[in-house]
Amino acid sequence: MRDIQKDIRSLKTLSTIPVVMKRLLETINDENSSFVDLSEIIQHDQSLSERVVAIANAPYFWHSGLINNLEQATLLLGYDLVRSIAISISVFDLLGKDEAKRMRELWAHSYEVGLIAGLLCDKVPVTSGAVCFLGGLLHDIGRVVFYTLYAPEYRAIMFDKAVTEKETGLFDADHSAAGGWFLEYSLFPEEIIFAVRYHHSLKGCERHKGIAVTVHLAEALSSVLTPGKEADGVWNEDKESLFYRNGLKKEDIEAIGLIVRQETPFIDNFFEM
Ligand SMILES: [Fe+2]
Ligand SMILES: [Fe+2]
Repeated sequence: MRDIQKDIRSLKTLSTIPVVMKRLLETINDENSSFVDLSEIIQHDQSLSERVVAIANAPYFWHSGLINNLEQATLLLGYDLVRSIAISISVFDLLGKDEAKRMRELWAHSYEVGLIAGLLCDKVPVTSGAVCFLGGLLHDIGRVVFYTLYAPEYRAIMFDKAVTEKETGLFDADHSAAGGWFLEYSLFPEEIIFAVRYHHSLKGCERHKGIAVTVHLAEALSSVLTPGKEADGVWNEDKESLFYRNGLKKEDIEAIGLIVRQETPFIDNFFEM
């Protein structure tokens, strides 16, 4: 019998995990780790380093073009956020070159959900916008985790319309649960774990409801604002009434849609790095 939680726990020690990612995960367990260690690890991988700086310059953070290096990124975004962004990117890299096109689409979807979550959080502040952005960016990380652990089986269903049902049939858990466990074992902040764990269904979400609802709605909205094969959310009457109950308005959807469309070139360019 397969033990998904045990497999996820062992991810960190898999020989296929890049050294840089292993070291990034180790900094989470090390209370004494400082920015110097973090930037030393990130700078070891030039492509990662460039992409962390690119995200720090994403229009969402309003520093566009001002950040030239990791030091400035950390100064403006903070140590935790830079480390989380670096881990997010390196986790997506796990999908590897053979799935490059799919990885790009899944990353674009994740980025869009992150952006929408951050923008929703600007309207109804539930936590810092940057934490909401990160919760959205990582919301589908469980799909990468499943792919990394069980590629041959998962490849057949990973972009299926009914992906969560198919996952539960195969693994007895869906990607929300898998992503939640992965982030829990990697000692991510609890509010991000909750946002990821409950992004498809809020049932059982006892804490951090604000960010969980925000990412849940962002995922659903992305299916309307940026529809694509990878968008696994659904916008329906329940989501719509949840949206209004949280003090959001119809105009907010239009305003968010406009910003997301403006950011599309940035999202696309990210993959050319
Ligand atoms: Fe999802
Ligand atoms: Fe998603």
